[in-house]
Amino acid sequence: MAAKSVCQRFRFSQTISIAVSLLIFGLAVATMSTVFASRSHATFVDDDEQDKSAVPDLPVDDLPAEISLTKVPVGFDAIPPAPADNPTTAEKAKLGRRLFFDPILSTDRTVACASCHQPDHGFASPEPISIGIAGRKGKRNAPTVLNAVYGQHFSWDGRDASLEQQAMGPLESETELGGDVEAVIANIRKDPSYVESFESVFGSGESNLPADAVTKENLAKAIACFERTLTTGNSKVDRFRASEYEALPKTARQGLWIFESRAGCWKCHSGSNLTDGEFHNTGVGHGHEDRDAGRFAATKDDNHKFRYKTPTLREIEHTAPYMHDGSIKTLREVVEFYNKGGDPNDPTLDKKMAPLNLTEQEIGFLVDFLKALSGENAATQR
Ligand code: HEC
Ligand code: HEC
Repeated sequence: MAAKSVCQRFRFSQTISIAVSLLIFGLAVATMSTVFASRSHATFVDDDEQDKSAVPDLPVDDLPAEISLTKVPVGFDAIPPAPADNPTTAEKAKLGRRLFFDPILSTDRTVACASCHQPDHGFASPEPISIGIAGRKGKRNAPTVLNAVYGQHFSWDGRDASLEQQAMGPLESETELGGDVEAVIANIRKDPSYVESFESVFGSGESNLPADAVTKENLAKAIACFERTLTTGNSKVDRFRASEYEALPKTARQGLWIFESRAGCWKCHSGSNLTDGEFHNTGVGHGHEDRDAGRFAATKDDNHKFRYKTPTLREIEHTAPYMHDGSIKTLREVVEFYNKGGDPNDPTLDKKMAPLNLTEQEIGFLVDFLKALSGENAATQR
């Protein structure tokens, strides 16, 4: 008996001392890693203004295992063909998907495409102005990439003529992914599983240097291919239009009517993707000292000053804040902005803009309609 209790006591004190030493060890490790983390961060990023806490979250890829390449979203007639030199294939889309979520694309490995195009935020950014590596800010809001397959021009000023061309932009941008494309390519070449995928998708199969298939162009092709699979459709509005009348709540039906008549929204937000693909000045940013010139930046045509691409309105309830500068927080405020006629003091305001004289209730109907434009996409189907 006595022996047993001594033994128990011994075990007890032994457990205590092991626990205490583990605790001390743990504390030491934690302190060291904090010191090292801040050191290594400082050596990677030479930027006084850095604010690591501002770096956007890095979403994990929990989209469905298979995303259809061929499924036409309800509300659309077809999926437009991919460019002849970049046909859509399952293997390529898979590689593009891996890259889209991988911070390896940023110089300090903290930011991925998905950081600003977040699946849970309608593939857009919750920040008014996008935040890239080391907390650096660009000057515009990150729009959704959903249904980009239906677009002809990309970015708010339409400077990119294809998704392939667009994908290079963030890589080359110092405020987004860091701008050192060579370093990014070198990092990807060091990862055998990437080299294998690139070689399998783009290589001739005979190369002695499979890493040669990892190029900026192929990277852009793979990402663009993945983006072409990110569609959204089958919203309540689509179902209503397909004669399933009860799918659309009554107030949203009234909103649809106002949208298509008196409010004139349809003049620019037209067609299945609710955009005319054209550029207009709605007055956003008027009166700001260093106003972003919009489409002018791409064309240098004075008539294009302050015009922006009409964005899609699909999934709009998930992609706040709104407009190219993220200056409007809620859908109600967007509709109130249009109700005033945008900014009527702007001398270059689009001719299609005019005060609407909607009642509070009608504004609510329009908001309900906009919310009914959410549907099925890769993020909602998981
Ligand atoms: C730091 C945030 C950030 C990161 C990272 C980022 N983007 Fe963007 N993205 C933006 C912003 C801001 C715009 C609007 C740019 C403009 O109009 O000048 C944009 C625009 C786009 C568009 C155009 C959408 C349209 O309809 O016009 C696509 C497509 C896109 N990004 C894809 C990507 C891809 C692919 C990556 C990764 C290679 C990426 N983005 C990384 C912020 C970001
Ligand atoms: C003259 C063309 C035009 C008309 C009319 C118009 N829009 Fe727009 N809409 C645009 C453009 C262009 C933008 C982007 C403006 C910017 O960012 O500076 C936009 C942006 C929006 C946005 C924000 C989208 C986003 O992703 O940030 C919403 C919501 C919207 N419009 C809804 C409406 C509604 C509702 C109406 C009718 C009351 C309407 N629009 C009428 C052209 C138009």
